[in-house]
Amino acid sequence: MLTMAMRSGGLRGTAVRWLLSQRLRGGGGGHHRFASTLLTAQQKPYTHIQRGNFNQVEGEDLAVFERILTSSGVITDHADVDRYNQDWMGKFRGQSTVVLRPKSTEEVAAVLRHCHQRRLAVSTQGGNTGLVGGSVPLFDEIILSTELMNDIISLDDVSRILTCQAGCVLEQLNTYLEPHDLMMPLDLGAKGSCHIGGNVATNAGGLRFLRYGSLHGTVLGLEAVLADGTVLNTLSGLRKDNTGYDLKQLFIGSEGTLGVVTGVAIEAVQRPAATNVAFLACNSYEQLQHTFQAAKHHLGEILSAFEFLDEGSMDCTTANLGLSSPLQTPAPFYILIETHGSVQEHDFAKLEGFLETVMSDELVVDGTVAQDAGQASALWGIRERITEALQHDGTVYKYDVSLPLPVLYSLVNEMRSRVASVATRCVGYGHVGDGNLHLNITSSEPNEELFGLIEPFVYEFTAKHRGSISAEHGLGVMKPHHIHYSKPAEAIHLMKQIKALMDPHGILNPYKTIV
Ligand code: FAD
Ligand code: MLT
Ligand code: ZN
Repeated sequence: MLTMAMRSGGLRGTAVRWLLSQRLRGGGGGHHRFASTLLTAQQKPYTHIQRGNFNQVEGEDLAVFERILTSSGVITDHADVDRYNQDWMGKFRGQSTVVLRPKSTEEVAAVLRHCHQRRLAVSTQGGNTGLVGGSVPLFDEIILSTELMNDIISLDDVSRILTCQAGCVLEQLNTYLEPHDLMMPLDLGAKGSCHIGGNVATNAGGLRFLRYGSLHGTVLGLEAVLADGTVLNTLSGLRKDNTGYDLKQLFIGSEGTLGVVTGVAIEAVQRPAATNVAFLACNSYEQLQHTFQAAKHHLGEILSAFEFLDEGSMDCTTANLGLSSPLQTPAPFYILIETHGSVQEHDFAKLEGFLETVMSDELVVDGTVAQDAGQASALWGIRERITEALQHDGTVYKYDVSLPLPVLYSLVNEMRSRVASVATRCVGYGHVGDGNLHLNITSSEPNEELFGLIEPFVYEFTAKHRGSISAEHGLGVMKPHHIHYSKPAEAIHLMKQIKALMDPHGILNPYKTIV
C-alpha cells in the first residue's frame, strides 16, 4: 500500500551551509563606506529608518578592541567584513567596517563595556541564518560575531544537561551528543550554520517543536552579557528554580537587543531508538486537518513532527532544485509525519493503524513510508529545502504567522488571489502541528506593487484572527513597526521600559525588535 519507491535525493544540514557560502562568495563588494541610505533594493521598505545618535568607530576604539581580543579577533579588511554585512536572504546589507570575534565571556564583557561608554552600536551575529534581517547591521553598527565561542563546557549525561558557549553550531552539538544516545531538543533546516546562541536569541521553533517544545522550556540556564558589560550568569542546570523572576526568559527571543548570550545550558533529549517518516498527499486542506487530528489520536506521544507543504512549494523544489516528488500524482497538499519512539514494532503498528484509518476514510490519497534512514532523509530534504528553493526565484517576501488551524490556509488562498497577476509564486508550508504557517510570495525582482498588495493585508488578516505576526522567526528589522498587530499597547510599553532599563544607551541591535 504505502511502499512506493523513493525517487528524490535529499540533503539535510549541508544544503544550508552550501547556500550560505554561495551567497557570501557572491556578496558583491563596493559598499564599504558608511552611507546614509540603505543599500539593497529589497531594503527599500525600510528606508524611513534613520541612523541613531551613535558614535562612529575610530582608530582608538580599534586599538582598544585589539588589546582585548588580539588582532585576530578584530576584522577590518573590507572584503572580509563584507560577508558579515549581508544576511542569508541577500535582502539586508549593513555597512559595518569592523567585526569583533571574542572567544570568551570576559572578552565580550570588555568589548561591551567600551561600546557602552563610547556609545558605539553593536549588532550580535551568530550563524547569520536569521530570516527577518536581525543578524546584520543596518548602518555602521559593530558586528560582534560569536563564531569563535564554540566550546562545549560540560555534559551531565545523567541529568542530560549540555552546557556550551553560544557560538556552537546546532548540528555540531547533535554530533557531539550522538555517542551519548542524546540529541538536541530542536531541529531546523539551518542546523548546519545556525548557532545555539542565535537559536536562543530568536527562540527558534523548528521541525520538532510539536514534540520537544519551546526553548523557553528546554533552556535551563543562560549566561548573558548586558549592554554595560555586566555578566549575568544564570547558567544553572536546575529543572526547578523559583527564586524570583526567571530572568533568562527575557533573553530567549530578544534578538540581541537586551544582551549578548554567551553560554547556554540546555536539556538534551533521548535519541529515539525507532524513527518512522511518512510522506502523504491530501486533496484538500480540510482533509489535512482531519489527518492531523487522526495523527494526534493514533500516534499520541510518539508523534514528533507534522509538517505540511502545498503543491506550489513542491513545484518550487522540483523546478528550482531538481528534486522529485516521492509520490506519483501531484496533490494540493503534502504532509510529512515523523514518529520518535523506543520500540520499532510498537511504533510501526501505531503508524500502520493511523495510515489505515486515514486511507480508508479517504483523508489521504497517496503516500509513502521511508524504508531506511536514507529515504527518511530524502523526504525531510523536500520539506527542509523549500526555503532554499524559493530563493532561486529572485525576491522572496517571507511571512511567518501563527493562526488558528481552521483559517491557517485561507491566508494563502486569499493572498494568492490578490497577487496572482504580479507574483511568480505564492506558497504555504510550515509546522501545522504548531499552527505555524510560512507564507512566501516570490517575484523575479523587488516589486513595490506586489509589496503593496501583501502588506498590510497579511498583518490585518492575522490580527483579525487573533494570530501572531511572528510565530518563530522574530521581528528583526522587518516587523518592529507592526508589533501592535499582535501585542497590546501596554505590553509594548513595558517591553520598551525593559529595553531602556537594560540598555539605556540603546546600543544593542538598534532598529530591531522593539523600537
Ligand atoms: P543569526 O541569524 O546570526 O541572528 C539572529 C538574531 O539573533 C539576530 O537578531 C542576532 O542579533 C541575534 N543573536 C544571534 N546570536 C546571538 C547571541 N549570542 N546573543 C544575542 N543575540 C544573538 N527558524 C525557526 O525558528 N524555525 C525553523 O524551522 C527555521 N528554519 C530555517 C531554515 C533555513 C534554511 C534558514 C536559512 C533559516 C531558518 N530559520 C528557522 C531561521 C534561523 O535559522 C533561526 O532564526 C536561527 O535560530 C538563527 O540562528 P543564527 O545563529 O543563525 O542567528
Ligand atoms: C521552515 O520552517 O522551513 C523555516 O522556518 C524557514 C522558512 O520559513 O522558510
Ligand atoms: Zn519554520
